[in-house]
Amino acid sequence: MTAQYQVDGDVAIITLNNPPVNGLGLSTRLGITDGMAQANADAAVKSIVITGAGKAFSGGADIKEFGSPKAGQEPNLLSVITVLENSAKPVIAAIHTVAMGGGLELALGCHYRVAAPGTSVALPEVKLGLIPGAGGTQRLPRVLGVEAALNMIVSGEAIKSEMLAMLPGQKLFDKLSVSAETLAAEALAFARSVADVRPLPLVRDLKCKHPLGDAYFQFARNMVKGMSKNFPAPAKCVDIVEIATKKKFDDGMAAERDIFLNLMLTSESKALRHLFLAERAASKIPDVPSDTAQRAIDSIAVIGAGTMGGGIAMNFLNAGIPVKMLEMKQEALDRGVATIRKNYEAQVKKGKLKQDKYDQRMALLTTTLSYDDLNGTDMVIEAVFEEIGVKEAVFKELDRVMKPGAILASNTSTLDVDKIASFTKRPQDVVGLHFFSPANVMKLLEVVRGKETAKDVMATVMTVAKKIRKTAVVSGVCDGFIGNRMIEQYGRQGGFLLDEGCTPAQVDKAMEKFGMAMGPFRMGDLAGNDIGWAIRKRRYQEKPNMKYSKTADLLCEKGRFGQKTGAGWYDYVAGKRDAIPNAEVVAMIEEHRKALGITPRKISDEEIVQRLVFSLVNEAAHILEEGIANKASDIDIVYIFGYGFPAHRGGPMNYADQVGLFNVVQAMNRFALNPLDDANFWKPAPLLARLAAEGKTFN
Ligand code: NAI
Repeated sequence: MTAQYQVDGDVAIITLNNPPVNGLGLSTRLGITDGMAQANADAAVKSIVITGAGKAFSGGADIKEFGSPKAGQEPNLLSVITVLENSAKPVIAAIHTVAMGGGLELALGCHYRVAAPGTSVALPEVKLGLIPGAGGTQRLPRVLGVEAALNMIVSGEAIKSEMLAMLPGQKLFDKLSVSAETLAAEALAFARSVADVRPLPLVRDLKCKHPLGDAYFQFARNMVKGMSKNFPAPAKCVDIVEIATKKKFDDGMAAERDIFLNLMLTSESKALRHLFLAERAASKIPDVPSDTAQRAIDSIAVIGAGTMGGGIAMNFLNAGIPVKMLEMKQEALDRGVATIRKNYEAQVKKGKLKQDKYDQRMALLTTTLSYDDLNGTDMVIEAVFEEIGVKEAVFKELDRVMKPGAILASNTSTLDVDKIASFTKRPQDVVGLHFFSPANVMKLLEVVRGKETAKDVMATVMTVAKKIRKTAVVSGVCDGFIGNRMIEQYGRQGGFLLDEGCTPAQVDKAMEKFGMAMGPFRMGDLAGNDIGWAIRKRRYQEKPNMKYSKTADLLCEKGRFGQKTGAGWYDYVAGKRDAIPNAEVVAMIEEHRKALGITPRKISDEEIVQRLVFSLVNEAAHILEEGIANKASDIDIVYIFGYGFPAHRGGPMNYADQVGLFNVVQAMNRFALNPLDDANFWKPAPLLARLAAEGKTFN
């Protein structure tokens, strides 16, 4: 069992012990009810303390049980809490470090709560598209007051125990211990002090009201609506807390259960729970065991102080890791450092970064023009021009100067990492680290595993990614890796849609309504249309039979590269990001359409969304089958964190699973019949066809 029972004089102590955060899995729940039975049966025991071993009181549900039948098996959490409430002897929660979700609900079921300062307290269920499901919505408002409780339940954010203890009239904590170290002794003393109190206080018996009543909840509802347009859970949080103020406790509990179970079935909650697990799974590489010995990375070098180099350097400075930046010319270094300063200063101005932190970070940055200065660093990340000749020169130098065992990484977005590795005598130490722009902001990192990349290099860079707070996904070597290889097909479909009758604004609007942070044309303007143009020019040589719309090329021939030139698919006003439709661009599209002899047709939003999203899905199925991606959920992570795919859809693969792969294939077969589209592309990837035929899903 993952909870231990011991007796200290007249106090029984039940210690949750289910590392890492004392998740309330079945064996822990059994441990609690067993302990309660023993304590109540032992005449020498006068009161009972429940606490957590190690680094938490309890983090709530055990994620290992997620979606398994064990999660609901008796005693479920509600039953455990009933056991605590009904105990004839006082139960005292001794809370420290982390009390979240079910962990906090467990504590709220105790008669008393003693907390250590510094404890993170939260009901984070809303982040999984749910509401708390074990009484949290009914008990927290009773101890904290309606406003503070609703705020915690709607945001899901953690608040420190000492802040909560300062709320006037709060009854969440009966006592705040002097320190974390003294919690155990203070909780024991407290338990003895209340041993004879009867009747025992129950949170359920406390009153729950807001002085403004309905007006307050109307106000709260309006606030929440603006914040959560794609998710039903936040509005339900308001409903259920309102119920706490209006109905009897047991009716409130029944309503909580109803809402909880209904939310469990929503596609939004399924998507969020999928992402929660996908993010954890992404860091695991099938053939690299978690105990693989890792290399120490205490300092890094960045080659190239341009757009990417500067952003990459900032990630490491933020994490307290010294960075040495190398460029060819002093001016380039000065420019790079100035940009980093400007970025940090903007954060200081906004109050997001303290001046002393900024100073500390800048002190970790040094620059050089000489490769010989790099030999002490543990890892180097190259971010120079995207030309294979330049990469060759750089990697030969790195091979010459870097110490044995150093990791040599490239931020290339399109070049062959195996080829880059071959420029060195140590291809096992070479890996791709594909950051996304702006590199100091975007969470995604594609880790490109070369043919010869050593396992300990993979393990090390996954850890480094965590340190710099990136979500890393492993990709094999191929043109565009996972994300850009898929986006190329998406862009191609966007082009066909223009030729067939859409305007850029119509396509963007449909995709944004679907939930994309930006439609494909606004995204092109942001990234620079010249990038896609360069790739297409290469494709025209490599794949002369591949069908492309020429509209984007015509746009680029006009020099409309996007935001950076003030004009792309849309017009832009300096300093603003608003995309203003441009009549000339629309006319250009119409003329081109006419030249091709195409009669425009009205295309529905549904067709736009399906063609764009399913183009991602079909290419992704090839990527999976080729082993470029290890699992479908990795692809979802890439699209959510790197390409603004809506979280409430759970990523393209999860979305396809929810639509049903049979339906996805049917749609592809329909698209293949469109003479203006690319029938070859719409042939379902073999993996997709197989899964659809077998009634299976990607995830
Ligand atoms: P950039 O042109 O802004 O910066 C490149 C920098 O490298 C320049 O400052 C240049 O002076 C320096 N440089 C060139 N040759 C050098 C050499 N031999 N030694 C030292 N420094 C040298 O380019 P950007 O956008 O930062 O791209 C860099 C790399 O990152 C490329 O491989 C690109 O494909 C990749 N990348 C770019 C993304 C983007 O959105 N810009 C996204 C992901 C990857």
